[in-house]
Amino acid sequence: MINQNYDIKNISLADQGRDRIEWALTEMPVLRQIHDRFVKERPLANARISGCLHITTETANLARTLKVGGAEMVLCASNPLSTQDDVAAALVHHYQIPTFAIRGEDNDRYYQHIAKALDHRPQLTMDDGADLVSELHKNRSDLLDGVIGGTEETTTGVIRLRAMAADNALQFPVIAVNDAMTKHLFDNRYGTGQSTLDGIIRATNILLAGKTFTVAGYGWCGRGIAMRAHGHAAHVIVTEVNPVRALEAAMDGFRVMPMLEAAACSDFIITATGDKNVLDQAHIEAMKDGCIIANSGHFNVEINIPALEKLALKKHRPRPNVESYELKDGRTIRLLAEGRLVNLAAAEGHPATVMDMSFANQALSIAYLWQQGSHLEHLVYPVPIDIDQQVAKMKLTAMNVNIDTLTPQQQAYLSSWKEGT
Ligand SMILES: NC(=O)c1ccc[n+]([C@@H]2O[C@H](COP(=O)([O-])OP(=O)(O)OC[C@H]3O[C@@H](n4cnc5c(N)ncnc54)[C@H](O)[C@@H]3O)[C@@H](O)[C@H]2O)c1
Repeated sequence: MINQNYDIKNISLADQGRDRIEWALTEMPVLRQIHDRFVKERPLANARISGCLHITTETANLARTLKVGGAEMVLCASNPLSTQDDVAAALVHHYQIPTFAIRGEDNDRYYQHIAKALDHRPQLTMDDGADLVSELHKNRSDLLDGVIGGTEETTTGVIRLRAMAADNALQFPVIAVNDAMTKHLFDNRYGTGQSTLDGIIRATNILLAGKTFTVAGYGWCGRGIAMRAHGHAAHVIVTEVNPVRALEAAMDGFRVMPMLEAAACSDFIITATGDKNVLDQAHIEAMKDGCIIANSGHFNVEINIPALEKLALKKHRPRPNVESYELKDGRTIRLLAEGRLVNLAAAEGHPATVMDMSFANQALSIAYLWQQGSHLEHLVYPVPIDIDQQVAKMKLTAMNVNIDTLTPQQQAYLSSWKEGT
């Protein structure tokens, strides 16, 4: 049982966490502008918000922004392995934001932490993977009447929420922050791209140049991972189930083939699909000796770990975040970060520069919901286009990038059907 109004690993890590949070803030100019505006306008006055997010430095800066906007914030982890314990300590000690998150917590503790975040009786929810909304609907439906709306950060969460809305099960409106252009075009592609490679390199310290590196899924995340692996001079293979995405990968210059073929020749295989058993028993049986496998998709179901366990005689941990499975046939397969998001478990997640835009969308969307949520239906909504545009403009300004504007003549031309050659 958790009795306190927070549950973290070690409060004495708070100063280290604060230093890292402040460091991240230097790369978050858009969120800083929103923070300053929220101090003056307090658009979230008295809103009770529960956030189930990765407890990272960037999330801490988002939570601080919402707090100065008037919100009463509570946080819990959205993944048992992504919590940065020093950040959790700083949130509690320096920023007075109750936080329930311990890196490496087991499933029971993970759900106890979500339950504590729900005890806050949120009027607004923030999710990364839809676990909070799911728990609210399944086990705490008494609280549903009080909820005005929620936001969702990632592709997998949006898929779950759309399924709930299609079943008429969703009981409040949710904004799909993931689908904002200023989110997935940058966060999923450049953020996941860079941080996934960062996680793999920190975990293994193995040179990528000249190695065969397979990426499963050529969505926003997969594109970023493939692009960055190519930049490291690896031979990149892409596997897909969607013919258009497969074609795009082939035209982008990558080799495309079924996973069974790729497994036999890959040194690294990284999944980023949001799907289940993408690396299944048959693939594991075909893998090259020494193959390194990892996942950057939201849940740890992309690699069939029970099948790997079944094929193994024994396993050991040669380095943090690496599990070497010695198989009965003599091969060794090396799994990173227990198949959980490798960029968050073995590195620090996305760099603050891209989270700046994702969390600017979060902050503005949650303020929009507080004002407008009660007029919306119980559906999954896109981020309002003017928020997306506003975030892009603020980021460009912060980067000192100027762009052209349409002349009145061009505006008239682009909205007319009468002018031809
Ligand atoms: N690691 C992170 O920090 C991070 C960041 C953003 C998103 N995500 C997660 O990453 C996952 C992918 O997100 P996305 O935005 O790229 O999604 P997406 O929908 O753009 O792309 C997923 C791709 O995987 C393909 N796919 C599905 N099943 C497959 C299979 N069996 N084999 C090969 N390809 C398959 C789909 O056809 C699709 O092209 C989601 O779970 C998302 O929540 C993780």
